[in-house]
Amino acid sequence: MPKLYIEGKHQLNGEIEVQGAKNSVLPLLAATFLCSGISVIKNCPWLLDVESSLKILTHLGCECKFEDNTVTVNATNAKNCDIPEELMREMRSSVMFLGAILGRMKRAVISSPGGCELGPRPIDLHISALKKLGANVKEDHGFLEFDSGDGLKGCEITLGFPSVGATENIILSAATASGTTVIRNAAREPEISDLADFLNSAGARIYGCGSDTVIIHGVKALNGVTHTVIPDRIAAATYMAAAAVTEGELTLKNVMPSHFVSISSVFENMGCKIEPIGKSLKIWAPKKLKRVPTVRTLVYPGFPTDAGPVLMAALSVAKGTSVFVENIFENRYRYTDELNRLGAKIKTEAKVAVIEGVDNLSAAKCHCTDLRGGAALVVAALAASGTTEIDKIEHIKRGYENISENLRRLGAVAYEE
Ligand code: UD1
Repeated sequence: MPKLYIEGKHQLNGEIEVQGAKNSVLPLLAATFLCSGISVIKNCPWLLDVESSLKILTHLGCECKFEDNTVTVNATNAKNCDIPEELMREMRSSVMFLGAILGRMKRAVISSPGGCELGPRPIDLHISALKKLGANVKEDHGFLEFDSGDGLKGCEITLGFPSVGATENIILSAATASGTTVIRNAAREPEISDLADFLNSAGARIYGCGSDTVIIHGVKALNGVTHTVIPDRIAAATYMAAAAVTEGELTLKNVMPSHFVSISSVFENMGCKIEPIGKSLKIWAPKKLKRVPTVRTLVYPGFPTDAGPVLMAALSVAKGTSVFVENIFENRYRYTDELNRLGAKIKTEAKVAVIEGVDNLSAAKCHCTDLRGGAALVVAALAASGTTEIDKIEHIKRGYENISENLRRLGAVAYEE
């Protein structure tokens, strides 16, 4: 994998079309496996995680094609019900396929996804929900085997935490179960509504997404449909942070401003001017960013954990000291050591990070510890004097499409070599 080089201190200006949401497209691709027939997913970004999802679908017996940001999946001849271990390792979100495989094949075998870069990421909520829906679960030598006999049966599930992935897996498995499933304390993220919109146009009967109670009346079968992925609110936040640290002026096209009100308000607190114009959003950065009152990550519609790293990179060059509290994942601050290599002054202790704004960052060699941590390094490098070398950019490519080309088009000096 090449490295990413960014020469900082170039102002970003102009317009950018924001990519389709990574966190929507992965469950949507899993959902195509539930549909007998051909599904077409438009506005699909080309990401390493999308490539991994297509490998899983192909293994399961689907014919997949990607062209011009459109994926076509023909799931007519589904034949397998397992996800090979190497594909599970490529992408933790492959757990998203569990509900769809079980729904379609009545059996699913995956290897345990284990821990990863954000600390332990258990799937206990997914497993206990599937058990409630009637799946028998066996664990053997790191493999999890799910069997639903003659099919899953609708039930009431109350989640102990409104997990995004668990809510999506329950929706996927209950869509073709017999009877009605009710999820209480469901996650409310827009990506969940996107999944329900896809499934409903394929023939499912899912109600209440976007609220904390989701009702799914199981249907016998789903057919293939055409669907357009919602815009990526985290990619949008990343480009906002990039504009903010370069005193830039950007128009983000193809966004849903209502999806990131909590993000916009923090940028406004930093002194940015933000104006939603229909499906676009314009941001003007001030000469010097300001510190912000304590930011806490929360489930939607609170401040999203995935936007934390890029915000912290921006706060590194703000006037004054800011405090950030990470409430969703236990071990999300590994990238702060890398930001500090560029001269940021960030101290972390458990959930809390204290960011003392500095006048200048300066280029250094650094590496991505995870996807959003990598994006934070890009933002910091844009603000730093000199040329920063960023290694392990495969993390960034899991979630950002054409990031260096996009930045160059906006006036940055960024190249991969
Ligand atoms: C999804 C997003 C991820 C985002 C996260 C939170 C995708 C592909 N990924 O991840 O980018 O950071 O939502 O908005 O959409 N938990 C359990 N047991 C479980 C499941 C989750 O304890 O069975 C805990 C997790 O460890 C974590 C918290 O719940 O502390 C949130 O996880 P969850 O909402 O499930 O996130 P993901 O779906 O993995």
